[in-house]
Amino acid sequence: MTGAFRAVACANIALCKYWGKSPKGDNLTAVPSLSLTLAALSTTTTVEFRAGLSADEIEIGGVRAQGRARERVIALLDEVRARAQRSERAVVVSHNDFPTASGLASSASGFSALALAAQAASGLSLSPREVSALGRRASASAARSVYPGYVELLAEAEAAEPVAPADHLDVVMLIVQTKSGEKPVSSTQGMRHTQATSAYYRAWVESSFERFERAKRALLSRDLEGLGQAMEESTLAMHASMWAARPPLNYLLPATLAVMERVRALREQGLSAFFTMDAGPHVKVLLASRDAERATEELSQVSGVLGVIRSAPGPGARLLSE
Ligand code: DP6
Repeated sequence: MTGAFRAVACANIALCKYWGKSPKGDNLTAVPSLSLTLAALSTTTTVEFRAGLSADEIEIGGVRAQGRARERVIALLDEVRARAQRSERAVVVSHNDFPTASGLASSASGFSALALAAQAASGLSLSPREVSALGRRASASAARSVYPGYVELLAEAEAAEPVAPADHLDVVMLIVQTKSGEKPVSSTQGMRHTQATSAYYRAWVESSFERFERAKRALLSRDLEGLGQAMEESTLAMHASMWAARPPLNYLLPATLAVMERVRALREQGLSAFFTMDAGPHVKVLLASRDAERATEELSQVSGVLGVIRSAPGPGARLLSE
């Protein structure tokens, strides 16, 4: 069957971070990661292979894609074309269902939706595992967005695996935005630079395995405190490895640190809330649902905070009927 195929995938936030690539290549990861898929942040992507086009036509967020973003999409389409033994160019239209000016644009939801839509449009009927592997080669975090809830991507694994369903814990995630706009250094560039120059990179990698196992055990035994502790250690160790790079790489802002401190203060007041930051200044806070109202109110008042998005754990990537 051919025609336009549309897929939707949610973003995911790593509780235990992926930062660094395996020397084996093929965008395999150096460390295991554990994520939570988020219902409130999703990307919808439509793909159609059309005879007669001389080049792929790619539109992201209403704008024609250029440069590296365009090349990455074409690389995924080329892989699909090779597997499906087709040569037509494609029309790709993608948009995020969350404010694009928020600086939260996520390659995870984007490449996961693209992988799912493109393989369906090509006539392949890949399994979720194969879609996850296809997404991973484009952007490793995209492998995890194929599945709902809590998901792992082991070091050097081809594909992600589901660990626990979305309703496993009664939690929400708050995305506390501290700055709008594009991030200055992409995750791909940032981790390559860290890997090449940071004296702490090896320590980051070595410490990741035990931390991941601890986080997973805590998750499976519904121990939010234990999970939150490992989660905070993971983001801080990752950022420490970047700070020790030459030249140093810093994604955090004064407002980021102020939000972290407020999360710690909320914990002292008895709330179960834990922070994590990715390659940017926003803070994502995992917390018990019962504490969401109070935490949203308090974190919105921290100086430098632009807004707070609240998300429940979300579903895996799925095809929509065209
Ligand atoms: C800090 O998946 O964007 O968000 O594989 O090079 O595309 P590439 O990197 P990407 O890196 C994500 C890094 C992170 C942590 C995480 O999501 O695990």
